[in-house]
Amino acid sequence: MMNDKDKEFYGKFADRIEALKEDIESKISQMSLSVTGTEEERSVEHILGRIKNSESIKEKLKRKNLPTEVEAALVNLSDVIGFRCVTHFVGNVYALSTLIENEKTWEVVEVKDYIASPKENGYRSLHIIIAVPFDDEFIKYVRVEIQLRTIAMDCWAALEHEMRYKKDIDNTKLISSELKRCADEMASTDLSMQTIKDMIRGEF
Ligand code: GTP
Ligand code: MG
Repeated sequence: MMNDKDKEFYGKFADRIEALKEDIESKISQMSLSVTGTEEERSVEHILGRIKNSESIKEKLKRKNLPTEVEAALVNLSDVIGFRCVTHFVGNVYALSTLIENEKTWEVVEVKDYIASPKENGYRSLHIIIAVPFDDEFIKYVRVEIQLRTIAMDCWAALEHEMRYKKDIDNTKLISSELKRCADEMASTDLSMQTIKDMIRGEF
């Protein structure tokens, strides 16, 4: 549920945005069930959905020299509504992404594979931007960002994010290079885990 400040910013769109988020969330949850290999296994650890708070929206719009209004956000930003799907194995990321890409009620606008091509700092994730029909006279679609990553990648991204937004830290250089090292080691372990799982299940 939105707080009063966000309700005020989203205005007449608030309810529709919340309903849309719920709708997409239940679709992705449904898909995540079929990614699961066995009855008792949960391959998709969790799915987190959020509506961007008004402060972050305004900050981003300012940065892009756009008017700090809800319409500008809905038209120009891809992450007013955002999801993060965290999986056990790398294979689950691609299995879920295939389902998301094949869903007929929305259209895939862009896929950024930062797993195949990690960012320089070591960031890994698969980002899918979808365009979802929006029930408005002027705004026909809103873009939604879905991030898919393994638990290891998620843990890394959270720590890197914390470093980035903490202003006064010493040793930034050392910390960044250690983070980069961890990202690479975790990626290597993610791949080994996938291989071991496939061997155990005879899917190799
Ligand atoms: P914005 O960064 O949102 O302006 O969009 P962009 O066009 O740069 O897209 P990108 O795919 O790079 O980033 C979208 C989102 O992914 C960000 O808002 C973050 O949530 C996440 N992300 C991207 N890069 C990093 C990173 O280096 N570290 C962490 N922790 N998160 C990242
Ligand atoms: Mg960025």
